Amino acid sequence: MVKALEERVVSSEELTDDGILDNSIRPEVLDEYIGQTEVKENIRVFIEAAKMRKEPLDHVLLYGPPGLGKTTLAYIIARELGVGIKTASGPSIEKSGDLAAVLSTLEPGDVLFIDEIHRMPRYIEEILYPAMEDFTLDIIIGSEGNTRNIKIDLPPFTLVGATTRAGDLSAPLRDRFGIISKLKFYSIEELTEIIKRTSRVLAMPIQEDAAKELASRSRGTPRVANRLFKRVRDFALVDGKEEIDEEITEKALDRLKVDKDGLDDTDHQLLKAIIERFNGGPVGVESLASSIGEEVTTIEDVIEPYLLQEGYLKRTSRGRCVTEKAYKHLGIEYQSGLFSGLFDMN
Ligand code: ADE
Repeated sequence: MVKALEERVVSSEELTDDGILDNSIRPEVLDEYIGQTEVKENIRVFIEAAKMRKEPLDHVLLYGPPGLGKTTLAYIIARELGVGIKTASGPSIEKSGDLAAVLSTLEPGDVLFIDEIHRMPRYIEEILYPAMEDFTLDIIIGSEGNTRNIKIDLPPFTLVGATTRAGDLSAPLRDRFGIISKLKFYSIEELTEIIKRTSRVLAMPIQEDAAKELASRSRGTPRVANRLFKRVRDFALVDGKEEIDEEITEKALDRLKVDKDGLDDTDHQLLKAIIERFNGGPVGVESLASSIGEEVTTIEDVIEPYLLQEGYLKRTSRGRCVTEKAYKHLGIEYQSGLFSGLFDMN
């Protein structure tokens, strides 16, 4: 059984309850964007320089785990440049015509945002090269036996690509991005600020200690923080509270099975599976995926990055191993695997 991505708190876009993209809590300008300081300050300079030169901004590749604000940043870039933004996603561009259709809507200077750009077919990438380099579209029209190559001029534009896997892009595509920025997990202090901002935007006050508690249980991820904020707000409303305090935060997060360190049911399932079914590892990601009913890409892109960064999990050349920290966290007696640690990759 493969679980829908949307079931996890960490995975899908920030949607309202009726499934519409919730823009109200997204920052719209760089000054409102909290965290990712280096990336933000560099981008600020590149935007200013592009505006001074009256040229489009160089193409930008944003990469990092889901929920860290890649889409938000793409919208901010367009806004700060004072241009329009057109959006597409890698999986939705199946044919050259799909790409041509989006490209043909661009106005001079626009941002073209392609989310999950690593999921675009390779031959589409090849159409993108001249579009990125010379702002021309080379396409073949007609049908078998009667085809023609045509070249269409495009207005100058900035491609902003977002991906959870920069390594999956072909080298020629990666090389055509002048600005490549990696987004990192947020600190608890940064997430606290984001939660306080969301609290102001949604007009639901939160006490400082509650905001910190929520931040420390948000997996370093604003999308998780905002989603949990909304659920805690529900509990507070039903309990007749006019502001969110630590007590209601703890109650809500416990009910949502988000533990003290922000690990959820799926994280527990994954760590427990390695301990109980694979002796603590090493285990290959495919075996692990079928054991817990998740897709390999969900494990690699969504679940694992935070567990690796926080040291619950290690990747070795022979597969994944849990660490002593994971045993402790789950209250299971630690048994050092014979091979774990011998083949560390990171
Ligand atoms: N909401 C989501 N990500 C954010 C960020 N980085 N700064 C402010 N608000 C946010």
